[in-house]
Amino acid sequence: MLTSAAHEPTRVIDAGDYGVTIGAAVRHEFATLIAGAAPAHHYAVISDDEVGPLYADPLVASLLRHGRTTQHRMRAGESHKTRETWSRLTDELLDAGCGRDTTVVALGGGVVGDLAGFVAATFMRGVPVIQCPTSLLAMIDASVGGKTGVDTAAGKNLVGAFHPPSAVLIDVDVLRTLPDPHRRAGLAEAVKHGVIADAGYFARVASLLPALVAGDTPAILEVVARSVEIKSGIVKSDARESGRRKILNFGHTIGHAIEQASEYTLLHGEAVAIGMVLEARLAERIGVAERGMAGEIEGVLLEAGLPVVRPTSTDAATVLGATRHDKKSRSGAVSYALPSCIGTMAGAERGWSIEVADSLVLEVLA
Ligand SMILES: NC(=O)c1ccc[n+]([C@@H]2O[C@H](COP(=O)([O-])OP(=O)(O)OC[C@H]3O[C@@H](n4cnc5c(N)ncnc54)[C@H](O)[C@@H]3O)[C@@H](O)[C@H]2O)c1
Ligand SMILES: [Zn+2]
Repeated sequence: MLTSAAHEPTRVIDAGDYGVTIGAAVRHEFATLIAGAAPAHHYAVISDDEVGPLYADPLVASLLRHGRTTQHRMRAGESHKTRETWSRLTDELLDAGCGRDTTVVALGGGVVGDLAGFVAATFMRGVPVIQCPTSLLAMIDASVGGKTGVDTAAGKNLVGAFHPPSAVLIDVDVLRTLPDPHRRAGLAEAVKHGVIADAGYFARVASLLPALVAGDTPAILEVVARSVEIKSGIVKSDARESGRRKILNFGHTIGHAIEQASEYTLLHGEAVAIGMVLEARLAERIGVAERGMAGEIEGVLLEAGLPVVRPTSTDAATVLGATRHDKKSRSGAVSYALPSCIGTMAGAERGWSIEVADSLVLEVLA
């Protein structure tokens, strides 16, 4: 076990084929860990124009001791998670002389992680990627599990690949510079992990909320580690989402549709917060969940300062239409991952996906 400068122990969680290192002030060790997990001739560090200026230079400088290293940037934000950015960055890597012996290092939030992961998945038919998530959402969710991709006009994450990282490296100290709305948005995925897998964790996240919002390091380390354990445990059992991994989509079918309908003015975590409340109501309406569950989830999300109602700027019918474009929709019917109570998901016998009539979805959206 490494000891970080903040005297908090550094943990390594086994995510199957790779480890997730979680600590405070451990980023000075990242270059050594990257060179150990995915040694290469060339390291291509991809970040965005907000994270890059804060954290890329020291990482690039220390990677240079291990091999050729170049730095690449995209513009920050969901609206740049596109094929155009993918195309520009792959061209940049080619121009920089990257070959098959390249390791991509994704340094940023979930947008950079998904985009740089997709660059790695496709460059020279696939080179290793190391995920170094810098937002809370990316630390507790997006960096683990190997989903990479871009958005298209038809919806989110519709073009992509499964490309698990060779390692995930997390230094929670970088959250000090993360803007508050993004910190809160990340908490939505922690609440999700509690709802889908662990009622005790749901209660723990609720009780830690003030400390988490205030940026308390031990509280953040605890939540990042438990969320990574839950997510990697689920992914390990079903890497390509043919079954149980679908439970991670709780809140995301309506959430992605609202995120898209808001033209990405809502943050991913904010849209997922609304999506979880509405999908929990759906579960109550169709009788798979006990009454009161949606209210309990709503209460915790409200306390985290997250939105819980569909924004008036979006139109219910448009949101409904967008749920049909979601990748979870099969053969024209929209399927949902729904909880039966906090900590347990319904529908194991139905492959964890429950079809819900559009009319009911429209009712909860209205
Ligand atoms: N692959 C998956 O399994 C998975 C899971 C969940 C979410 N996602 C994706 O993740 C994305 C959302 O991720 P996000 O919420 O991290 O958004 P993001 O990547 O846009 O990051 C949020 C903002 O914070 C900035 N930022 C990040 N870290 C910072 C830091 N330490 N200091 C200062 N600024 C910082 C970024 O530049 C950006 O402006 C969505 O595209 C979503 O689809 C993917
Ligand atoms: Zn999500």
